[in-house]
Amino acid sequence: MTAKRIDGRAAAAAIRQRVAEHVPAFEQQTGRAPGLATVLVGEDPASAVYVRSKNRATAETGMVSFAHNLPDTITEDELLQLVLDLNADERVDGILVQLPLPNQIDAARIIATIDPAKDVDGFHAINAGRLATGQDALVSCTPLGCLHLLRQELGDLTGLEAVVIGRSNIVGKPMALLLLGDNATVTVAHSRTKNLREVVRRADIVVAAVGRAEMVRGDWIKPGATVIDVGINRLPTEDGKGRLVGDVAYDEAAEVAAAITPVPGGVGPMTIAMLMRNTLVAAHRRAGLADPEGL
Ligand SMILES: NC(=O)c1ccc[n+]([C@@H]2O[C@H](COP(=O)([O-])OP(=O)(O)OC[C@H]3O[C@@H](n4cnc5c(N)ncnc54)[C@H](OP(=O)(O)O)[C@@H]3O)[C@@H](O)[C@H]2O)c1
Repeated sequence: MTAKRIDGRAAAAAIRQRVAEHVPAFEQQTGRAPGLATVLVGEDPASAVYVRSKNRATAETGMVSFAHNLPDTITEDELLQLVLDLNADERVDGILVQLPLPNQIDAARIIATIDPAKDVDGFHAINAGRLATGQDALVSCTPLGCLHLLRQELGDLTGLEAVVIGRSNIVGKPMALLLLGDNATVTVAHSRTKNLREVVRRADIVVAAVGRAEMVRGDWIKPGATVIDVGINRLPTEDGKGRLVGDVAYDEAAEVAAAITPVPGGVGPMTIAMLMRNTLVAAHRRAGLADPEGL
């Protein structure tokens, strides 16, 4: 069997398009477009690229982006003050503080200071708790994107065996909770899991969020499974540019699975699309409007 290649770029473009279609109605009802504030501290090139693409995507949907680029010498108090100002700014519906932050700043304190109603990354404990207790929450963008791809691919997830590899607060844990919410039977594996291959082998759905290049091999995959590869790992190449690979050995797994996301072009584009979705949703909730349909 050669698996279907799940096209994350196409799915992400469709979501961004849907977000863009909702913006004029929001503007008409509230007199302004939804706004996303991004906060970039320092000059880490990867973070700068991510934040730039988030700002660009925001503008492309017709929403407003407020970019705050700060030197890495900023103090924790100064950054906290900026977050408080953004919390109070009525034009701002979403606040995204790009991680990692420099050592002098306690990222947990910064995240805890973001107004949960504007926490479009879904990292605040209030949103994590709301997700865990089955209430409306702003949910971390990457697992939300994975869930969207799974629903698109499989329809109803009820009763399917799902194995999530990784238990980070950003990906693994919210992913497991989302799958549980969709009535999958969920196992969360991690670095202390015994017989990982056998655990993964029983899964109808595998979500790999580990950060280890091509760790999941083809013979770990149950024939016909759907595989979502969250990992982004750069392998060295002779020309020095490096090559991006996921946590799953794609070619091997594609021989066995029914469907699989590539890296790049799978989960990655979904993360920004879901950030746009979360910003639109946050704007509606803050304005007392019903959630936008179809998102
Ligand atoms: N596509 C995107 O937009 C996107 C977004 C976010 C992250 N990512 C990528 O996704 C990957 C995971 O990100 P993350 O933030 O969740 O990483 P993380 O915080 O480092 O968590 C990695 C998880 O993998 C587990 N793990 C490590 N080695 C393992 C092993 N040998 N066997 C089984 N489990 C193992 C760890 O277990 P312990 O808890 O036991 O240590 C941990 O729970 C990274 O490659 C990251 O770059 C991609």
